[in-house]
Amino acid sequence: MNQTYLKCKEAADYLKTKMDAENAIGLILGSGLGELGNEIQDPVVVDYADIPNFPKTTVPGHAGKLILGTLSGAKVLCMQGRFHFYEGHDMKTVAMPVRVMKLLGVKALILTNAAGGCNETFKPGTLMFIDDFINFMGDNPLYGENLEELGPRFPDMTKALDKEYTELGIETAKELGIDIRRGVYMGFRGPNYETPAEIRFARTIGADAVGMSTVPEILAGRHCGLRMIAISCITNMAAGMTGEELSHKEVQETADRVKDQFKGLIRAIVSRM
Ligand code: HPA
Repeated sequence: MNQTYLKCKEAADYLKTKMDAENAIGLILGSGLGELGNEIQDPVVVDYADIPNFPKTTVPGHAGKLILGTLSGAKVLCMQGRFHFYEGHDMKTVAMPVRVMKLLGVKALILTNAAGGCNETFKPGTLMFIDDFINFMGDNPLYGENLEELGPRFPDMTKALDKEYTELGIETAKELGIDIRRGVYMGFRGPNYETPAEIRFARTIGADAVGMSTVPEILAGRHCGLRMIAISCITNMAAGMTGEELSHKEVQETADRVKDQFKGLIRAIVSRM
């Protein structure tokens, strides 16, 4: 059997001895949102370090815990900390948690991230539902032998993000008074922020936001038939959009400023899914 599949299955089989995540809503939390994991009630917590074949996270602010429990009355399985391609993990490793969640029986997946805005109507602090995406990462977790146990060789991407759940999310955001946007997310490899020329290119080909995550997870999730929504927090305007230089500090400060609103949105969405 395929090694990648076996690694995911081994991780899932181990987790099944610790938790029952059947029909939970999966949550993969990006920069600044990790603390939502601490609000989960009756938590069953497993450190990534204890899960077979799981790598360690290297990014500060990404805790490295898998948490099953209840959020706003909904059963959730939360990854507090994700794996990024720029950390040096290969794509199959980056996508592994999504596949493990599928094997554990989650019914849907919510992905969040921090992103740079290249739509000039956006502002730092804007929240954007990802409607569609551009894989500019130069790699793909679906390369190589197809994992037949999980999905087809040539998966569809016209409806990679779930329309019904995205509409539900947008309705929910409006009811909460959030100025919500939707758009195209373009994934870069990182770890440097893009150049102004790359951002002009991104805008030209239709991107509204750019970032260094989420694309591998969407690809793997769509392949294995998970219903997904993805939300970007626009933490900064992308390179060259304002004349200012970009800094991780600005990204963190904006994420911090918006996080209560962002967490409120996720809590409301999971209670309605
Ligand atoms: N580019 C890429 N990734 C990001 C950015 C950005 O401007 N902001 C937050 N994550």
